Amino acid sequence: MTTVAAIDNDPATLTVDALVVGLYQADGDEGPRLAGGAETVDAAFSGRLAATFALLGATGAVGEVTKLASLGAVPAPVVAAVGLGEREKCAADTLRRAAGAAARALAGNDTIAISLPLADAEGHQEPADAVAALAEGALLGGYQFGGYKTKAEPGRRSPATSVSVVVADGADQDTKAQLKRAATLTAAVAQARDWVNTAPNQLRPPQFADAVADAVRKAKLEVEVLDEKALRKGGYGGILAVGEGSGALPRLVRIAYRPKGAAGHVALVGKGITFDTGGVSIKPAQGMWEMKSDMAGAAAVAAAMLAVAALKPKVSVTACLPMAENMLSGNAYRPGDIVTMYNGKRVEVLNTDAEGRMILGDAIARACEDEPDYLLETSTLTGGQVTALGKRVAGVMGSEELCDRVKLAGEKVGEPAWPMPLPEDVRKNMESDIADLSQVASGLDRAGHMLQGAVFLSEFVSEGVAWAHIDIAGPSYHPGEPYGYVAKGGTGVPVRTLVELIEDIAANG
Ligand code: BES
Ligand code: ZN
Ligand code: MN
Repeated sequence: MTTVAAIDNDPATLTVDALVVGLYQADGDEGPRLAGGAETVDAAFSGRLAATFALLGATGAVGEVTKLASLGAVPAPVVAAVGLGEREKCAADTLRRAAGAAARALAGNDTIAISLPLADAEGHQEPADAVAALAEGALLGGYQFGGYKTKAEPGRRSPATSVSVVVADGADQDTKAQLKRAATLTAAVAQARDWVNTAPNQLRPPQFADAVADAVRKAKLEVEVLDEKALRKGGYGGILAVGEGSGALPRLVRIAYRPKGAAGHVALVGKGITFDTGGVSIKPAQGMWEMKSDMAGAAAVAAAMLAVAALKPKVSVTACLPMAENMLSGNAYRPGDIVTMYNGKRVEVLNTDAEGRMILGDAIARACEDEPDYLLETSTLTGGQVTALGKRVAGVMGSEELCDRVKLAGEKVGEPAWPMPLPEDVRKNMESDIADLSQVASGLDRAGHMLQGAVFLSEFVSEGVAWAHIDIAGPSYHPGEPYGYVAKGGTGVPVRTLVELIEDIAANG
């Protein structure tokens, strides 16, 4: 466990294992320049710190980390420079990414101090916000999944147990509150990442439901788990159609946070497919293992509820998490099936790999029964999201105003999201000859896949509920090498966006 604190000591006197300073990117012919916070350290190096880092190859590019042995110039044996990019563009997420990269590169050092500019040249950010960004970045960058190795790895470097952020004069109340918030948020993100990274044979629907129920119960939230019998009794046709193909039967987890004097009610819904083989419409074997992350939406929502329980915003928040494993068996649903959904609508199944919308349709309809003001749903719904927006930008569809708020919240926390339309012709193409609705547009190939998913879901949202569907197929999972504060595997997107939105709604309606 890593703890963060703010300190106002001179960084050049700190007896930590590693000290982090900042470098702005080289401008024209000049080399990289030292950022604010490094002045006294530079003096201890006779004013040659920037030149020395340049000699070691540092350019100041965002996220670049260059390490230097201090050889007694300062008490910290290692001084590391982290790139901050162009000074004019240094925003909160730059600090988050820089702190994340530094924490990762300095794993194996037990105590780290970060002395970076808290208000940049243009004074874009409040110092307390900058401290929060640095703490968040360092804590997220230090994340490591436990894994399953039977023997301890020789040379495995653990994240620091203590990270200190150097501030000008004393940590004020605001800074202290922000640090506490950063610890809460990053613990929630780590929990979401852990669930996503857990092997799919160890997190089948009943186990996932129990794990979520245990965690939220510990956080003093109300929780109810519907098993397959309760789902049959309740008429959850979509969840059962998908979930009964597996030997590990489906679940619906409902969580509630109801503070006194709540202004409004936000409903959250998250896709919890613990593994997606595609079912009878089976997926290609190549890369199928990544479908262990098909419960990233449910993981993010459950984790956001943990953060909500700690942060206590003045708004009611309920969560509805359908969990199922999309498998093939003698009981698996098939193309051609007619499924009666929870809200009574009949769906013609055409592709069992479009299972997310089947379980989400039921969950959204159930969530709407509690008459929320806002409904935020997130899911690894379509490969079309990755085709349209890539691996790092989520697609947002639904009520226009709420979609814009999701985009703004995402921008603020460093989880980019972009609004997408719900064109009328897409709904027309989902007419079925024999049922109320077709599960996917027939004969249209893969055109507008992401939009089809959202149009389908809109059929289960009640009139008058402002809703947004956040497709996180790409951003929820990072298969490549770590960067910034993002580790390989589950990213925890969009936990911080959801919490930001809930706090925004609590404050501004
Ligand atoms: N879980 C997948 C979507 C997905 C793809 C998530 C890639 C993460 C990475 C979803 O259930 C799925 O299979 N979607 C199909 C929908 C299609 C059959 C209408 C898709 O996107 O191809
Ligand atoms: Zn899926
Ligand atoms: Mn699928």
